[in-house]
Amino acid sequence: MNARTIGNQSVSAIGLGGMPMSIEGRPDEARSVATIHAALDAGITLIDTADAYHLHADEVGHNEELIARALRSWGGDASSVLVATKGGHLRPGDGSWTQDGRPEHLKKAARESALRLGVEAIGLYQFHRPDPAVPYAESIGALVELLDEGVIVQAGISNASVAQIDEANDVLGGRLASVQNQFSPAFRSSLAELEHCASLGVAFLPWSPLGGIRRAGEVGSAHAAFGRVAEARGVSPQQVTLAWELALAPVVVPIPGASRPASVEDSARAVDLVLTAEELAELSGS
Ligand SMILES: NC(=O)c1ccc[n+]([C@@H]2O[C@H](COP(=O)([O-])OP(=O)(O)OC[C@H]3O[C@@H](n4cnc5c(N)ncnc54)[C@H](OP(=O)(O)O)[C@@H]3O)[C@@H](O)[C@H]2O)c1
Repeated sequence: MNARTIGNQSVSAIGLGGMPMSIEGRPDEARSVATIHAALDAGITLIDTADAYHLHADEVGHNEELIARALRSWGGDASSVLVATKGGHLRPGDGSWTQDGRPEHLKKAARESALRLGVEAIGLYQFHRPDPAVPYAESIGALVELLDEGVIVQAGISNASVAQIDEANDVLGGRLASVQNQFSPAFRSSLAELEHCASLGVAFLPWSPLGGIRRAGEVGSAHAAFGRVAEARGVSPQQVTLAWELALAPVVVPIPGASRPASVEDSARAVDLVLTAEELAELSGS
């Protein structure tokens, strides 16, 4: 599969988002493992997760443990797979999401994620969301310590503004590897951050790239241009969406979520869909 880079690591141009396999509406373990194996069989070498991808308060790290088990039971060579996790968001178990960006929390959370993933060092650790109660530079300072102590190999951020991208990269001494922000046909307001990442050579990972778990199926009807191009090409609107995102900049690595093998197999084919300049103009202008 076509490759892109996150920091110094080469990854497949499309990743797999793990969230649908661990939160509300999640499938049983066998279907989740089959989905992860289908992604790996399709050549996907990036899996995005977070310690907060779980349902109940007592199962923090549900998704990290699921991914670790699936990697162990896969027949192929998993050594080149980058599992990117996150810390700083919490799910108390009532469906809400809270934040904790204190350095002491992030340093503890990263060590616990490494244990669950069964790795000596986490390939990419992302600060999940700025915590308004903690100065941003202090949260990022925890990533610096984790890098320097070898707990994590690369550091990324998520849900960040252009100013926060610059601040994080500054605190990290130019070592910011990735930015993960919401971006899809329905949510384009992160285009400024995407373009800023392109100018810095920092990977940009669109989250909910198809519009989110509940709306991904409607991307072709909610956004008519995507439906039109899909029909003309004989592919799914989801593939067109991912191919459009890939074409926006060489730093873009979409991470569509999936809870079924067929979804991730279809999404993986987006790397081979080369859209024309006319199609891209129509999609971007729609
Ligand atoms: N950093 C953050 O704050 C943040 C926030 C949200 C999400 N994320 C990350 O971003 C990832 C992606 O976001 P998301 O899962 O919320 O939304 P999404 O990727 O926009 O949509 C996910 C849904 O799309 C469906 N789908 C995937 N590929 C498809 C295809 N080719 N054709 C038809 N349907 C397809 C899947 O359906 P099935 O379930 O039926 O397979 C899945 O439930 C998450 O999994 C998570 O890793 C990060």
